[in-house]
Amino acid sequence: MRLLPALAFGTLILPLAAYANDPNSYAQPDQVRVTHLDLDLKIDFPQRRLDGQATLKLDWKNPKAQSLVLDTRDLKIAKIEAVGSDGKTTALKYALAPRDKQLGSKLTIATPQHPAQVRIVYTTSPEASGLQWLTPAQTAYKKLPFMFSQSESIHARSWVPLQDSPAIRFTYDAHVSAPKDVRVVMSAINDAKHPLDGDFSFDQPHPIPSYLLAIGAGDIAVKETGPRSAVYAEPSIVDKAAHEFEDTEKLIATTEQLYGPYAWGRYDILVLPPSFPYGGMENPNMTFATPTVLVGDKSLVSLVSHELAHSWSGNLVTSAAWRDIWLNEGFTTYVQGRITEAVYGKPLADEEALLSARALQKSIGAMPANSQKLAPDPRGVGADDSLSDVAYDKGSWFLRTLEQRFGRGPFDDYLKGYFNHFAWHSITTEQMLDYMKPNLIEKYPGKMSWDEVKAWVYDTGIPKDAPLPDSPRFNTIDQERTAFLAGTLAADKLDAKGWNTQEWMYFLDRLPDVAPLDKLQQLDAAWHLTGTPNAEIGMRWYSHAIGGGDKAVWTAAAEHMTRIGRLYLTVPLYKAFARTPDGLAYAEQVYAKAKTGYHPLTQQVVEDLIAKAKKTK
Ligand code: BES
Ligand code: ZN
Repeated sequence: MRLLPALAFGTLILPLAAYANDPNSYAQPDQVRVTHLDLDLKIDFPQRRLDGQATLKLDWKNPKAQSLVLDTRDLKIAKIEAVGSDGKTTALKYALAPRDKQLGSKLTIATPQHPAQVRIVYTTSPEASGLQWLTPAQTAYKKLPFMFSQSESIHARSWVPLQDSPAIRFTYDAHVSAPKDVRVVMSAINDAKHPLDGDFSFDQPHPIPSYLLAIGAGDIAVKETGPRSAVYAEPSIVDKAAHEFEDTEKLIATTEQLYGPYAWGRYDILVLPPSFPYGGMENPNMTFATPTVLVGDKSLVSLVSHELAHSWSGNLVTSAAWRDIWLNEGFTTYVQGRITEAVYGKPLADEEALLSARALQKSIGAMPANSQKLAPDPRGVGADDSLSDVAYDKGSWFLRTLEQRFGRGPFDDYLKGYFNHFAWHSITTEQMLDYMKPNLIEKYPGKMSWDEVKAWVYDTGIPKDAPLPDSPRFNTIDQERTAFLAGTLAADKLDAKGWNTQEWMYFLDRLPDVAPLDKLQQLDAAWHLTGTPNAEIGMRWYSHAIGGGDKAVWTAAAEHMTRIGRLYLTVPLYKAFARTPDGLAYAEQVYAKAKTGYHPLTQQVVEDLIAKAKKTK
């Protein structure tokens, strides 16, 4: 299960033609489009805010347009002005609407004269949903503060006023000032040798959607991992990170062989503090990554393959709206598997595909019908439906099915052609399908019918003939698990010494939802799962142990939940605790202590979960 917060598609009833107008944004791209962003920001750590201005270059589409409408959330606006070609400024009138919980505040700027540029002078809120601020005490080195952004899905608007929709692409440059000794990085080319003089400049010459805007700042060291790659991390973990990610150049070169040149120049990785709410984020030129993948044996490097793959699927060819997110995540998960296969071998790629397919088979039936679809009906999605494993795992399963039906050679050619054709564009599912029909389905007749394609994209569930990879090692683990549960194989006789991370994940994923307490205790006694440094294993183990009533793990689980803010690794433990009154009370205590170290998003998800559990108690 991959944990992403609920994403509202809005309850607006949209005429189909207006679908290009993203229901998660107030922007009106048919009136005017932002083509370039010029940011000038000061990072104010004591006040936990960004201070400065955003100057937007505009391309007016409707000659009768009267206003520029932007997305904002919790921004304090000082003034807004038009900037003439001579640099002269004129104040503009504007209205900031009351805050909508999902969408933020619509900012309407009166612009009857259609200025070429508009400048907004503003500060962010200390509670900005897209930023996390850490005190020195909350970092590994405890010397300097740290801050970072997470803009996807709709949080860029909490730190920059803009048209916050993936359908709109712009180039940007930025000037950022910070305290001395702090390094600032952004989703643009970064200079590892930049002096730590508090004065940083960036230039992103490629048009990107707003959710790829990113910034990070703190006590950040750099270590090269290849001719065009490096890791950025707190000094105490930079060596470990460079070792874990030492294959980065191999991964880039492999992907280039499959799908064409890497278009962005450098590929660097910023390893964040453990409160980073996701596993990874594909910010252009600078992937943001959780430190929980630094397990020492490279077993979770698929995260890098995944974020790197987004340099083609997602950053080059982008979903036009959040409803089409599977074009980003499904295609990327497929490409990730191909990279893993080429660099680490087919057995590992098959294990990862099986893990996700089995998890999806288990979870999909319980989802609301519309959420089971790759391309949900935008008019039928309620605010409670969430972006889930469907986009990733059903999406990649569909592409693996296509690969199998059409053959690897033809399918690789097709996918490369697709990336080329739509490069630097944001597209809908329907545009993808319009391209697929002549270039794949009809080009090689008799391999797959158009009805089958439509069933994958628009139907609920998983097609019955969806192919599964075969993993002999997983088959053995299935047999061992069964024997262990039946009592014919003792815990210490499991052949688990050589299990890799994925094999432990698979063993634990397929234990019964509520496993017998004695079995769990035998497992822990034999394999010392409590206290594991591997958080993927820890999350699964503690969920079972809490659910099975093993109170002995509670303090270790609390330590895991306090240290790690990554939603996917921490929220399941809150859920496991919330199933009993005692557990819920304990989870509330843990949260009270952990809260200040959590990202605003993690805080919100945990608070919603606890509130819901209390209501149904
Ligand atoms: N782009 C996503 C993260 C994301 C998606 C953030 C939607 C906010 C909204 C990123 O590429 C991703 O998929 N991360 C995964 C990594 C995993 C699949 C290897 C994660 O964070 O778990
Ligand atoms: Zn992704």
